[in-house]
Amino acid sequence: HNHLLGIEPLRPDEITAILDLADTYADQARTEHKHSTALKGMTQINMFFENSTRTQASFEIAGKRLGADVMNMAMQASSIKKGETLIDTATTLNAMHPDLLVVRHPHSGAVDLLAQKVNCAVLNAGDGRHEHPTQALLDALTIRREKGRIHRLNVAICGDIAHSRVARSNLILLNKMENRVRLIGPPTLVPSSFKEFGAEIYEDMDEGLKDVDVVMMLRIQKERMDGGFIPSEREYYHRYGLDAAKLANAKDDAIIMHPGPMNRGVEIDSEIADHPTRSVIQEQVEMGVAVRAAAMDLLAQNLRARRAEAAANQPV
Ligand code: CP
Repeated sequence: HNHLLGIEPLRPDEITAILDLADTYADQARTEHKHSTALKGMTQINMFFENSTRTQASFEIAGKRLGADVMNMAMQASSIKKGETLIDTATTLNAMHPDLLVVRHPHSGAVDLLAQKVNCAVLNAGDGRHEHPTQALLDALTIRREKGRIHRLNVAICGDIAHSRVARSNLILLNKMENRVRLIGPPTLVPSSFKEFGAEIYEDMDEGLKDVDVVMMLRIQKERMDGGFIPSEREYYHRYGLDAAKLANAKDDAIIMHPGPMNRGVEIDSEIADHPTRSVIQEQVEMGVAVRAAAMDLLAQNLRARRAEAAANQPV
């Protein structure tokens, strides 16, 4: 692949290859030997048109550990504010010969469009409600390290599925790897179209969480609700907030995940979020750096091979 735009185009063996390489980066990061030369000589530009803490920081750390020159475009201070379009911005940056463009954008499909206009590798850091592929990969790596496998698991994804690119990418990945996925939430936040992905849909948390291995909580995304249904936080917490009583329905060794940022006391109880043995939320953040390093390493290898081939085919 020339880009990482979503989980959809990836085969199961390609997902496994990314996770295997990320595993070695994760182990390395826990030692004094964090650095490599995988991206030496390469220029990485991070363009975030939406706020981010985890994704942007981990792409930057990963790029620097692998030896790239990393630039974070301050989109709030860019000429986008003067009306320059996304495509003009991208082609302008493309003229500076970047090798890797990491892009987050509020519109679904914007990153795919941008990838068609540049001649470097593009990584989707989240586009609208569409996909957030590195999040699904880091979640898969966290699960694989905790459970010893990323197949034949019962995984519950709970809450605001409708607005969530994280839910979409995770659902696609977990299906490809032959897991059983349950989606739990109020009908207004769980579109029945998700049944097409082979997911089981539950309205009741106690029922949906029965005997699951993994509980993934999602943030209520008020910024994507367009003034439509916004549940009262108290009512939502009562019915769908993960607390000890609801978690008791899951397997005794079920792990608790959340992509962040969390609304404590809305979708998750603080004690559960910070549970010393069951919560893997900080491990998810740690795996984020490893997965992004692996994805950029593999795309850079592909980019070098394509450039070498193009150079070999140049008429003398
Ligand atoms: N999970 C996630 O994408 O977090 P950020 O929005 O902080 O990057």
